[in-house]
Amino acid sequence: MRPEEMAALHRMAFAYPRPWRAEEFTDLLAQPGTFAIGDSASFALVRVLFDEAELLTIATDPDRRREGLARARMDAWQGRAREMGAQRAFLEVAADNEAAIALYSGMGYQRAGLRRGYYQVPGKSAVDAVIMTRDLTQR
Ligand SMILES: CC(C)(COP(=O)(O)OP(=O)(O)OC[C@H]1O[C@@H](n2cnc3c(N)ncnc32)[C@H](O)[C@@H]1OP(=O)(O)O)[C@@H](O)C(=O)NCCC(=O)NCCS
Repeated sequence: MRPEEMAALHRMAFAYPRPWRAEEFTDLLAQPGTFAIGDSASFALVRVLFDEAELLTIATDPDRRREGLARARMDAWQGRAREMGAQRAFLEVAADNEAAIALYSGMGYQRAGLRRGYYQVPGKSAVDAVIMTRDLTQR
């Protein structure tokens, strides 16, 4: 998947934070342990460092939602992260993002912390970020 496709999907999917540019995806993918899984309908970007995996972003085309694509991407990256030696996964999600929180909770992620006012939303109050984590050694 090309960085331009990732940027296009990111732009379609997110109201905030601001969309990431293709160059930003290129830079992230150049970092050790960072990989993307998916296609122009849905993709995930992940970084594995030692025994920890971090989901950097995940997005599904608004016209392709509720088809199980994000769940499939989650399964795929978690499998690859395990092969790379990750034992724990974590991610950050906006506290008002019910769809994503439902996705992660349904896959065994539990709330591990809160960053108050983490996301600045133009014209609105800041939104908290919830940190979620799961043990990757348990299937
Ligand atoms: C969150 C997101 C990636 C989910 O993508 P998706 O491909 O539609 O998700 P899936 O079809 O794989 O859904 C898997 C499960 O997640 C939950 N879920 C997904 N969307 C949901 C919604 N709108 N409301 C409630 N639960 C939802 C459900 O449990 C769903 O299972 P079900 O359809 O069998 O009930 C998508 O809504 C998106 O791109 N949102 C904008 C970007 C974003 O918020 N990314 C996460 C940032 S942390």
